[in-house]
Amino acid sequence: MPFLMSLRPTMQLPPSSQSLVTPSPSYSGDLPIRQIPGSYGLPMLGPLSDRLDYFWFQKPESFFRKRMEKYKSSVFRTNVPPSFPFFMNVNPNVVALLDCKSFSYLFDTELVDKKNVLVGDFRPSVAYTGNIRVGVYQDISEPQHSKVKKFSMDILKRSSSIWVPELVSNLDIFWDNIEESLSKSTTDGASYIFPLQRFIFAFLSKTLLGADPSRRPKIAESGYAMLNRWLALQLLPTVPIGIFQPLEEIFLHSFAYPFFLVSGDYNNIYEFIKEEGKQVITRGQTEFGLSQEEAMHNMFFMLGFNAFGGFSVFLPSLIETIASDETGLQEKLRKEARDNGGSQLSFESVKEMELIQSVVYETLRLNPPVPLQYARARKDFRLSSCDSAFDIKKGELLCGYQTLVMRDPNVFDDPEAFKPDRFTKERGAELLNYLYWSNGPQTGSPSEFNKQCAGKDHVTLTASLFVAYLFRRYNSIKGNSSSITAVEKAK
Ligand code: HEM
Repeated sequence: MPFLMSLRPTMQLPPSSQSLVTPSPSYSGDLPIRQIPGSYGLPMLGPLSDRLDYFWFQKPESFFRKRMEKYKSSVFRTNVPPSFPFFMNVNPNVVALLDCKSFSYLFDTELVDKKNVLVGDFRPSVAYTGNIRVGVYQDISEPQHSKVKKFSMDILKRSSSIWVPELVSNLDIFWDNIEESLSKSTTDGASYIFPLQRFIFAFLSKTLLGADPSRRPKIAESGYAMLNRWLALQLLPTVPIGIFQPLEEIFLHSFAYPFFLVSGDYNNIYEFIKEEGKQVITRGQTEFGLSQEEAMHNMFFMLGFNAFGGFSVFLPSLIETIASDETGLQEKLRKEARDNGGSQLSFESVKEMELIQSVVYETLRLNPPVPLQYARARKDFRLSSCDSAFDIKKGELLCGYQTLVMRDPNVFDDPEAFKPDRFTKERGAELLNYLYWSNGPQTGSPSEFNKQCAGKDHVTLTASLFVAYLFRRYNSIKGNSSSITAVEKAK
């Protein structure tokens, strides 16, 4: 706990109306100053060998863990993919940050710049975003970032009144489908990934865009698949897939795929947004000073990448966590979901469901859906980790790997264990200061002055409502990361 206290003052985000910068996590002066351990290796060979470790021989978690053990440091130099041979213009050198204290520097807008570093030094072609740099790639020092961020927060605010009713009606459809598949299934249950993505797409189109996909049969049928292809092609060079090696290295991680392969998909969704989401796009122009193209492509990115992509990764891990539990957790969740929150679910209901919220936070802690965050040093500065201090040079790329950061033993007791009630009570509320899945602490507030996820609260509330709905409809469910194998309906 003393460590938590020592971190806390450095983690506060600025009141949104005051300044463009967050306060620096101050260097307290009592830590030993170390050279950053690790090296980038020989030109081309070092990055290639690290890339093979990352994707093939070790996989990301043990890639970072092994180096942390080797250097006895949660801060070290390494390379991250993509690299050699066809990424000659990408610099793979980073300083890895693997504990809560060092990771929190990524939120310090005075010290770090987030321009074009969403997935590291590699940037997917701007063709994937309509030939413009959408807000997620912009630093807060760029005036455009503020316009786009305010636009995104306004979209979420305005959608609040329909958010829960749309969630519930789309969940009705999703679970009806699963039950139907289960009743027909003779083997391993109902595969839920595509039905879930269909649900996510329909729900987000309605809430964020005010658009009903069912008005366009092609979009209703395959909108989610179009987004999957668009997401996959731009992210392939950076994401482990798990197919046969060396095929994955040769065909998926060695070069960037051109946009034209998914231009048809992009145009289909673009037209859908343009025709069915007219009001939102017009607001982007009239109230936030964006051009029509800027409003369109940013809306596309928010819907397809941030929201659809984020939920598509997060919800399966939440379902798996709950559906595979054999410790009696479901019974407690069921009781809480039924005894609290009124007869109709609402954002308010969730406030009375502490355990459900805690399970959502704990799932995000152990399986952060966007595990890597990057930022570039704006200037030379001294960075503190949990046990040492390091000098960072202007221009160096910092790379935080949340999967290990969120298991920092200085902050989380028994960090590898899934503890459903970890985030309950006073101690749990304190720990929310160190839950970083949204590129900021769970106690922070997204604003135009920082780079925290605009959907931070909507994501955790939606996930909590997803669980509450589940246990009002069912007594129990069984399943894994891709299938539901059994459900027992509430009497
Ligand atoms: C489970 C779902 C989601 C996850 C895991 C997620 C995660 C994140 C993360 C990690 C970032 C920071 C990326 C970086 O700069 O390194 C981010 C940014 C962002 N997210 Fe989310 N997000 C989710 C859902 C949403 C939703 C529903 C919206 C609403 C439209 C949204 C809107 C945004 C926006 C606009 C940004 C850019 C913030 C900025 O540039 O200042 N996200 N998100």
